[in-house]
Amino acid sequence: MTTTIPNLPLLLKPIFLFLLFSLSFLLFLHSHSHHHRKTTFQSASPSNDLRIRPGYSSYSAYIERQLNKTLNPKLRKIWTTRDWERKVHVFADFFYSLKQRNLLFNDSKALSIGARVGQEVEALKRVGVSDSVGIDLVPYPPLVVKGDFHAQPFNNDTFDFEFSNVFDHALYPSMFVGEIQRTLKPGGVCVLHVSLSRRADKYSANDLFSVKPLLALFKDSELVEVRGVDGFGLDTEVVFRKMRKNII
Ligand SMILES: C[S@@+](CC[C@H](N)C(=O)[O-])C[C@H]1O[C@@H](n2cnc3c(N)ncnc32)[C@H](O)[C@@H]1O
Repeated sequence: MTTTIPNLPLLLKPIFLFLLFSLSFLLFLHSHSHHHRKTTFQSASPSNDLRIRPGYSSYSAYIERQLNKTLNPKLRKIWTTRDWERKVHVFADFFYSLKQRNLLFNDSKALSIGARVGQEVEALKRVGVSDSVGIDLVPYPPLVVKGDFHAQPFNNDTFDFEFSNVFDHALYPSMFVGEIQRTLKPGGVCVLHVSLSRRADKYSANDLFSVKPLLALFKDSELVEVRGVDGFGLDTEVVFRKMRKNII
């Protein structure tokens, strides 16, 4: 491409050329920084093995959708009657097995995250872990207190043990994991039940395709164990231990 310089007085020609080059340079800088911003944003977003589901226009739309099912009176009746014993038994078997593997103890202070009506809290108590509580958007006293798992209502270093089978409901997985790592005591254990092989329910906010994203999110913890389970449609148990602080 050739640039023709209009017929300008001799004195103005260098000024015109200077302005032309400055403009081109500014245009180049702008397009480069735009590309850079795009790249940074993409690399900060979840990996291919953890995908946030589109369609939540705002945080309140996400909460409203979660509550839509959790507050359903007919379902709450079923969960607290017909389903109760069956689910408590299955959870109790999981917790008993964790006790056998020295990951959970009678004197552990335990939290279950997204515990709904508290079957898993009841199961923790039945296997002997008496200091246990659940959190959910909707409380179910005395087993479950109100709390959003993106901002747990507990102090730092509170629990010895945290369990959750609702990772797929996290709209912000890094906050979900960050809060677990904040409220676990150093040396405390987190057990997640997740689904890797099939998609979880229509109320899920993310899809997980491997354990890899969890390893990246639990950056203050070490991986203890990954094993197959059969837990209400969830197929994998992943166990992390929060690292102890380095004492210098
Ligand atoms: C699939 S249910 C699992 C309930 C229970 N863990 C069980 O296995 O029966 C998901 C639960 O996560 C809760 N939940 C969803 N988003 C939440 C949030 N941001 N904070 C706390 N709980 C949430 C829902 O209210 C619901 O009770």
